Amino acid sequence: MTIPHKTTIMNYLDQVEETANLIGAVNTVKIEKGQSKGYNTDGIGAVKSIQENKNISHKKVIILGAGGAAKAISYQLLALYEVELVILNRTPSRAMQLKTDLEKNFKIDITAGGLSLVDQEIKDGDILIDTTPRGMHPHENDKPLVRAEQMHPQLLVNDLVYNPLETSILKEANKAGATTVSGLKMLLYQGVESFKIWTGEEPPLEIMEKTIKKLL
Ligand SMILES: NC(=O)c1ccc[n+]([C@@H]2O[C@H](COP(=O)([O-])OP(=O)(O)OC[C@H]3O[C@@H](n4cnc5c(N)ncnc54)[C@H](OP(=O)(O)O)[C@@H]3O)[C@@H](O)[C@H]2O)c1
Repeated sequence: MTIPHKTTIMNYLDQVEETANLIGAVNTVKIEKGQSKGYNTDGIGAVKSIQENKNISHKKVIILGAGGAAKAISYQLLALYEVELVILNRTPSRAMQLKTDLEKNFKIDITAGGLSLVDQEIKDGDILIDTTPRGMHPHENDKPLVRAEQMHPQLLVNDLVYNPLETSILKEANKAGATTVSGLKMLLYQGVESFKIWTGEEPPLEIMEKTIKKLL
């Protein structure tokens, strides 16, 4: 089959799971009895990696970036929890667009804007998720979007980048005494969720984590 340019795989699936449909992207396809169904496990992978370190319900979550990963995570967060959500992006109009899309689907007022709002929003923030590729290999030395002086020890900082494992923003978070979660955990848990969809079974978590670490 030839897939026309700018068409997504979603158009060729028999079904798409509800949250994946809202996100507008799938990363897992299961074919059963000749029927294909698409899922998105990125958002749930990120949520699980945070959840094992901090209770998410009723927390203030600040997302840096407004691309595909930010979209998947924000839809998944709002599908599961009542949270206060702030979306800040280098290009503020993209953050505003994501806010508009989310507010159409969830009864919530979202704060959106440029990265200059980090200072004021982080003061009472609980969870900071950096969904930008800043600091990713080979740009390890790029300045992080948030510095230790802006953070506080009650904050959980999650960077989606997993190469390097300890990115510049996570180093800053450590300096500030905040809890850190590496992007490796999201990678692990989105794989776990996909494995469960495909097999209906719990995967061997420790073996998967060891293997990912070895490969990285
Ligand atoms: N751990 C995992 O399992 C996992 C899964 C998925 C993705 N990721 C990682 O998540 C990151 C984002 O992926 P994505 O699919 O969301 O990408 P994307 O759709 O291209 O979005 C990238 C976002 O980052 C912003 N950005 C890019 N470079 C920046 C910079 N130098 N400074 C500040 N902001 C910058 C962009 O802002 P503008 O709108 O201004 O361009 C945009 O909002 C990638 O590093 C990817 O490897 C990790």
